[in-house]
Amino acid sequence: MSDVKEKGKCWLYSDEVKKHFFDPRNIFKTDEEAEEYEKSADGIGEVGSPACGDVMRFYIKVKDGKITECRFKTFGCASAIASTSVLSEMVIGMKLEDAKKIKPQDILKKLGGLPPRKVHCSVLGDKALRAAIADYEGKQK
Ligand code: FES
Repeated sequence: MSDVKEKGKCWLYSDEVKKHFFDPRNIFKTDEEAEEYEKSADGIGEVGSPACGDVMRFYIKVKDGKITECRFKTFGCASAIASTSVLSEMVIGMKLEDAKKIKPQDILKKLGGLPPRKVHCSVLGDKALRAAIADYEGKQK
């Protein structure tokens, strides 16, 4: 029983995760909203998670080498939503070069951690952001 209780502790989400899951920042609430935004996005990145099969799509707007806005949509779980929500707050106003240096560990730190089995969910937003930046940079050539 105590073993079950110990393992149970690892299932708990931090207050920060709960805050971002119940009130996610910069997430699209409808497909129509996302479709409209897509027309003016400067870069779009979509990635899937090999661990669970979920998908994340991240949109950025860029001016003078900085991310001025970002939005996302996902089929991912609560951890993916919370991780990408906190990531979206981190990158607004950030230079592209600095945004590229963000690591999943930086996101986890901001979230106050995730249960070990949910760490892969935080990688989804990070990878989608990189893909969106690469999309933007590819269009500049
Ligand atoms: Fe798929 Fe979390 S379980 S993103």
